[in-house]
Amino acid sequence: MTSIINQIDPARVPAHVAIIMDGNGRWAKSRGLDRCEGHVEGVSTVRKITEIASETGVRYLTLYAFSTENWNRPKEEVDALMHLIVVAIERETPDLIKNNVRLTMIGDFDRMPSSAYERLVRCINDTSHCTGLVLNLALSYSSRWELTRAAREIARDAAAGLIDPAEINDETVAAHLATASMPDPDLLIRTGGDFRVSNFLLWQLAYTELYFTDTYWPDFDKESFCRAIIEYQSRERRFGLTSEQVTT
Ligand code: FPP
Repeated sequence: MTSIINQIDPARVPAHVAIIMDGNGRWAKSRGLDRCEGHVEGVSTVRKITEIASETGVRYLTLYAFSTENWNRPKEEVDALMHLIVVAIERETPDLIKNNVRLTMIGDFDRMPSSAYERLVRCINDTSHCTGLVLNLALSYSSRWELTRAAREIARDAAAGLIDPAEINDETVAAHLATASMPDPDLLIRTGGDFRVSNFLLWQLAYTELYFTDTYWPDFDKESFCRAIIEYQSRERRFGLTSEQVTT
């Protein structure tokens, strides 16, 4: 572990890492367990990955914990997942504070049970003074929901004469996204073997480096995270320029 951390160049750590945590259900199934046991194990991984992200100097860690599409899963699984997330966050909040981690949340909270939402907001408030890693949970989140909301807000401002439609640009849109206060992700990690972005941060991923691994989320460990960072550091980010332009 120490040796792999040492292979990371501290000067080029991605400021923002986003993760699609997939494979909990398959991890459980492969062991003859209930899907929810996979989610329970997935929570331990969240703890480990938050620790290593903080240790390596990542500034923002966005985790796709629950998509708007996940509301359509069987009710027992939805209830179990919501309960698990709220209980885990409440349990971890004292440690988040101790480690100077600030909790934030993006998503369509109108669809969340109000008690779950209120409990999470309490944890967010309790960590609001922390200045280290920002742990950003995407909960009841989907990118199309976020972009549609942004379009609605911008249209409303234009109709009210607050902005000139001719002046709407990238920055206007970005300012209306749930991630307005954060830089775009530098690195997206998806566990669980699928190669898609599943309605996650579609606008923000425009120039993000993508990293896919077959490892199921419960098996993804600190070493796996370091390996993803090292792979990221081997990539040349050109942002649409030529290789010569970015190296000179
Ligand atoms: C995908 O696995 C995972 C989820 C839908 C939920 C992820 C949530 C957690 C790991 C808990 C998060 C906890 C905190 C504290 C943020 P899947 O069920 O789609 O797996 P499958 O593709 O193998 O069926």
